[in-house]
Amino acid sequence: MRKYCYVGRSAVNSKLAFSTYSLVEGAVKLTLPLGLDSTRGRSSIFYNSRMVLNRDISILIARSLQSEVKGGLRICDPMTGSGVRGLRYAAEVDGVDRVLLSDIEPDAAALSYYNAVSNNLDGRVDVQCMDANVFLSLHSVPGKRLHLIDLDPYGSPVPFIDSAIRAILKSGVLAMTATDMAVLCGVKPHACIRRYGGRPLRAEYSREVALRLLAGALVTSAGRQGMAAEPVFAHSTDHYIRLYARIKRSATEANRILQEMGYIHHCFRCLSRVVSRDQPKIRKCRRCGSVQTSQAGPLFLGRLTDKTLCSRLIRLQDPRSSGSGRLRRLLSLELEEADAPPTYYTVDTICERVGTRTPSPVSVVEGLRACGYTASRTHFTGGGFKTDAPVEAIINTVRESV
Ligand SMILES: C[S@@+](CC[C@H](N)C(=O)[O-])C[C@H]1O[C@@H](n2cnc3c(N)ncnc32)[C@H](O)[C@@H]1O
Ligand SMILES: [Zn+2]
Repeated sequence: MRKYCYVGRSAVNSKLAFSTYSLVEGAVKLTLPLGLDSTRGRSSIFYNSRMVLNRDISILIARSLQSEVKGGLRICDPMTGSGVRGLRYAAEVDGVDRVLLSDIEPDAAALSYYNAVSNNLDGRVDVQCMDANVFLSLHSVPGKRLHLIDLDPYGSPVPFIDSAIRAILKSGVLAMTATDMAVLCGVKPHACIRRYGGRPLRAEYSREVALRLLAGALVTSAGRQGMAAEPVFAHSTDHYIRLYARIKRSATEANRILQEMGYIHHCFRCLSRVVSRDQPKIRKCRRCGSVQTSQAGPLFLGRLTDKTLCSRLIRLQDPRSSGSGRLRRLLSLELEEADAPPTYYTVDTICERVGTRTPSPVSVVEGLRACGYTASRTHFTGGGFKTDAPVEAIINTVRESV
């Protein structure tokens, strides 16, 4: 056992052994260690102001989930750092029964508890100091399970997925952040295959491939336990990707979702991509015959964001909150692209190939729609667009849009 181990609220140790400063995030006033520098790892307590948007979306998802749950919500943040995420759940989501926080670092657990007390949230918040897998395993029995589990580790959430799935209540939501983008975007393909069970791709849409690899790892892990993980919201922002999935205890549903696993076959010469459920046997591009091709997968090819949920998040958003403009833009792009096919193009890559000036992605989207194709902008990148049009039609439209 570590120095600080809170069992419920029985062991109170809210004295901090370091100098602190305060800041406000959402409805919570946080005390943080002076000299805290998460990027250089000088402090054992983690707080990153670049993740506020990430946490804002988590709050909206919890509010949406709360409206479906009879009785109070039970939420768990098993790698809590300063406690900010879990405390915001407790303070900003109505109808929360209990928020369970834990961190392997004693100082982080101590600070989380201190922040819970100083925000008058300790009545609904428990803090423990424990390994996340141990903590989640303790909650994997009936009566202890949780509606929402939020995995926010350093790097990859994969080591915690199995125990999180076991600790989720029927129709609960599993949220996860991944920051190991070099692995997921193809800089270290072997590490990606080992960790996520699929091959990454270094193309203009590698961030989407990353999200689909993470979703694939979750879907297959859940399937092994006879459970179905259905992605309901996903985004790629700054230095990380984030995925929310509904977990159902149904082998039939698991079989259905596993049908959505497959491959993306990409041609670097002509930019065409082919999506298939089975692994393609030929390397040659079907369009131009080039062998400059690569395959990503197996990965999840289905819908990453549910349109109905996305509309609900837009309604639940507080327009007065700081950062609301960025959040509103992200949610409206997510809504626009929710039904679009996998992969996206960027105007820059096409124009470089064709040798024209760069038109705005909006005019390209409008041009493609006018030709009868589906097309949308994408939240993945400002210069990107999604479409079901073939490459020839895309190139013609880009030329006409210039
Ligand atoms: C990215 S930080 C969490 C940030 C926090 N959730 C937030 O929103 O600010 C990751 C945290 O996980 C903790 N951690 C790392 N490995 C862990 C493990 N095996 N079990 C529990 N906590 C762990 C670290 O001490 C660190 O506080
Ligand atoms: Zn080709």
